[in-house]
Amino acid sequence: MMKSWRFHEFGPIGNLKMEEIERPVPTDDEVLIKMEYAGINPADKFLIMGLYQDASEPPYAVGRDGCGTIIETGVNSKYNIGDKVIMPSAPLGINREGCLAEYVTLPDNQIYLLPNWWSPEEGAAGTKVFLTCWQGLHDAAHLQPGETVAITGASGGIGLAGMVLAKVMGAKTIALTRGSDKREQLLELGFDYVCDIHDPDIVETIRALGGADVILDVVGGDFFAKAIAMANPYGRICVIGALGGIKSVVDPIEIIFKRLQIQGLQVSLYEAADSQRALKELLDVLEPSKGKILIDKIFPFGQVQEAFEHMRHGPMGKVIVGPIGSSA
Ligand SMILES: NC(=O)c1ccc[n+]([C@@H]2O[C@H](COP(=O)([O-])OP(=O)(O)OC[C@H]3O[C@@H](n4cnc5c(N)ncnc54)[C@H](OP(=O)(O)O)[C@@H]3O)[C@@H](O)[C@H]2O)c1
Repeated sequence: MMKSWRFHEFGPIGNLKMEEIERPVPTDDEVLIKMEYAGINPADKFLIMGLYQDASEPPYAVGRDGCGTIIETGVNSKYNIGDKVIMPSAPLGINREGCLAEYVTLPDNQIYLLPNWWSPEEGAAGTKVFLTCWQGLHDAAHLQPGETVAITGASGGIGLAGMVLAKVMGAKTIALTRGSDKREQLLELGFDYVCDIHDPDIVETIRALGGADVILDVVGGDFFAKAIAMANPYGRICVIGALGGIKSVVDPIEIIFKRLQIQGLQVSLYEAADSQRALKELLDVLEPSKGKILIDKIFPFGQVQEAFEHMRHGPMGKVIVGPIGSSA
């Protein structure tokens, strides 16, 4: 048997409960992973609430980001017992049992060896946010050295992963954050400029800094029109989230005359082979600087609800749970 954080009905986050279920058995094409740490993502909450498109009907465990050790291999697996792996897997916690559990099974093409400069905690925290930012900055925006990247929700997982990646790709970075509380920390972490997203003159402020060539946006809502206004000609706006609202009034003429590209990102739409390709490219780019994600707080495995509540208040970096098994 094993412990697993599962839900049986779409609804409030309280529907997620720790259960005792049968330990999974790997098929010939899968490995059995003993989980060490699992990352918490806002999308897990949206999925439980029934707001995540293409999610399977419950019951199952959520958890799409994690790191663990392989303890059993199917006969067709190329992995070895003892390998530590991370999880670029798209269906994990969306269309199959997630990794907020003591054990999970996955096929080879949905796992990847933990890079030697990431701890298991950093592997559980960083894989999906870095992959999303790679999809944005590399696949969609074709970011060039010397360009300027503005990132909303700067203190969150996407914000900090986007900043680390944009800097190693040679870009200037602008943090867009709510208020000024986190200003000094964001500058210390490496953003070149920090601006208050609620400043009524935010568009003029960004234009005075030279405008934004690429924008990674997790806020949407009213900000979206401002993103279009602060973008430079030929700018690329990557739409990642809508934490600030789902409606925006935009000026199509500005999009036309600036020749803007607006692209939605969805990391879970990477096919298995494509996620392996993207993760390899991403890690090759991060390796020279040993780029990693900042972790805000680690909660015991028994406190997943508390971890979601903490994330709701806008942490500085990622929220994860673990070590799994020791305090379940
Ligand atoms: N499309 C994809 O494939 C994909 C992948 C990963 C994540 N996402 C989505 O992207 C969003 C951010 O994910 P994350 O992992 O970065 O989350 P996170 O770690 O919780 O960080 C989100 C950050 O956004 C800001 N924020 C929070 N609530 C806000 C609000 N109501 N209005 C404006 N800003 C707000 C806060 O930063 P400040 O306090 O600094 O402003 C917060 O730290 C979520 O909606 C998530 O579902 C999408």
